[in-house]
Amino acid sequence: MNVTIVKDYESMSQEAAKIVMDQVKKKPDLIVCFPTGSTPIRMYEILVEENAKGNVDFSNVQVRSVDDYVGLPPEHNQSYAYFLDQLFFSKCNFNPNNIRLIHSCAPDMKEECRHYARMLEEEGGIDLIIDGIGENGHIGFNEPADKLMDRYHVEKVSEWTRKVNARFFESLDEVPKFAVTVGVLDLLEAGMFLILSNGTKKAEAWRRLFHDEYISADFPASLLKLGRNVHCILDEASASLI
Ligand code: PGA
Repeated sequence: MNVTIVKDYESMSQEAAKIVMDQVKKKPDLIVCFPTGSTPIRMYEILVEENAKGNVDFSNVQVRSVDDYVGLPPEHNQSYAYFLDQLFFSKCNFNPNNIRLIHSCAPDMKEECRHYARMLEEEGGIDLIIDGIGENGHIGFNEPADKLMDRYHVEKVSEWTRKVNARFFESLDEVPKFAVTVGVLDLLEAGMFLILSNGTKKAEAWRRLFHDEYISADFPASLLKLGRNVHCILDEASASLI
């Protein structure tokens, strides 16, 4: 696990955007999973600006899903597809044919996960996954539990996460109870797994990650210690308890 500590949210976003641009330059048809949430918003703004200036070309980049709420249609403003399309995809030169997201409204989600995992395997795996970390240590929607799942799967969203994410919905009742997410092997096998974190709210999770000696399913972020290709960018506030 490689950790970079930078001054603030702006520096974290600049550093992350630079890594994405470097990776796309090295491999123009990179297979990448971009995250939703508040953390990456500024990174997307920077990438949109750089794309407009002609400094990065997304036309051959292949986009896949990190996670999504089960049952939210793509036109819902909190679906993975809508969020990323509004903020990022529609503002850059992505080819819509290269954006293949998991169908979170599929009638049989287990089969959809198997199908998606097979597709990724045939494509040779994911080159770059970018994600955040939950204050409770979740990664993607891999929530604290007795066991963690290896591949794309449906996961019950913890009550803790539902409450935290209720800020994006009109009420807590509207926050879906299930999500589909990458599994831990998907994360660890990616060519690069880039974790972004800003703010003091995440500081306790990082303290636990660095100070606890064990790797445990009840704190999914501890699995980051297993990855050779894990790169974390924290701002000073997130790193304040390390
Ligand atoms: P956030 O979410 O970017 O909104 O903080 C990150 C996460 O919960 O994984």
